Amino acid sequence: MTIVVTGATGHLGRLAIESLLAKGVPAGDIVGLGRQVEKIADLGITVKKVSYEDQEGLRAAFENADKVLFISASEPGKRIAQHTNVVEAAKAANVGLLVYTSAPKADTTDMKLAGEHAVTEKLIKDSGLPYVILRNGWYVENYPADQAVAQGLVGASGDGRISLAPRADYAEAAAAALVTEGHEGKTYELGGEALTKAELAAEISRQTGKPVTYTDLDVDKYTELLVGVGLPREAAEVFADVDRATAAGALFVPRDDLEKLLGRPATPVATAIKAAL
Ligand SMILES: NC(=O)c1ccc[n+]([C@@H]2O[C@H](COP(=O)([O-])OP(=O)(O)OC[C@H]3O[C@@H](n4cnc5c(N)ncnc54)[C@H](OP(=O)(O)O)[C@@H]3O)[C@@H](O)[C@H]2O)c1
Repeated sequence: MTIVVTGATGHLGRLAIESLLAKGVPAGDIVGLGRQVEKIADLGITVKKVSYEDQEGLRAAFENADKVLFISASEPGKRIAQHTNVVEAAKAANVGLLVYTSAPKADTTDMKLAGEHAVTEKLIKDSGLPYVILRNGWYVENYPADQAVAQGLVGASGDGRISLAPRADYAEAAAAALVTEGHEGKTYELGGEALTKAELAAEISRQTGKPVTYTDLDVDKYTELLVGVGLPREAAEVFADVDRATAAGALFVPRDDLEKLLGRPATPVATAIKAAL
């Protein structure tokens, strides 16, 4: 059985491949795609240098793929074209299962960042290919403890809870969706322990022994703050919009789906922060 992983050179891709190997998939059955393929040369799998811009290259890489883990691309604004290439290529190669990493509540949320994921989910469903949608919640790693200690946490998410898990949990869940049966046609909302940003700040403070505060701004002020630290305005607006939506519950999901795929409790946030420190 051949499993192809896109975005294999990124953080989540590497962890997903490590999870597949840990679950007993032979290295010779795994193909990792990305541009900076030298980053995964140590994994012992087959690697192919392919861009999401290159539909023909993707199609060739998917030839003989029984399953594809399609990790979403990383540049908002470019992803509809890139993801269309992936889905068209998967369809042309008639892959046996397309497993896509999406965003929380992609089909119902008004969070701007999820728009490209909603379009991608529809492309996948319209393709007629067997699929699994993994709506990954937020990574704990989005909030590095050392940065929080140095600068505090700032945002506009109010008391909104964020369902968090380390990337490794989402990667292991993806590997489970690939190697165990019964997931075809399913959409999973994945997330672990849910904390507000103030609770997250308090936990980082507890573990580091340093004061860490959360400052809640209104969305406009947060947008200007992000522009002030160098983000292009468009990106700042998208990130501030994530917080607006978070305040209304957009990033809160029950833990059941993640824990069902993992076959164990999701990693507690405190454990993930401790490991990162
Ligand atoms: N849930 C969350 O909290 C959260 C946070 C951030 C991102 N995400 C999403 O989750 C995905 C995986 O996260 P991550 O932490 O693994 O991100 P990452 O480390 O930045 O990895 C991104 C991956 O996408 C690949 N990629 C980007 N543009 C490409 C292109 N044009 N052609 C081919 N490959 C391309 C990169 O390949 P090369 O480096 O080889 O070019 C890399 O393998 C991200 O891409 C993003 O969609 C989710």
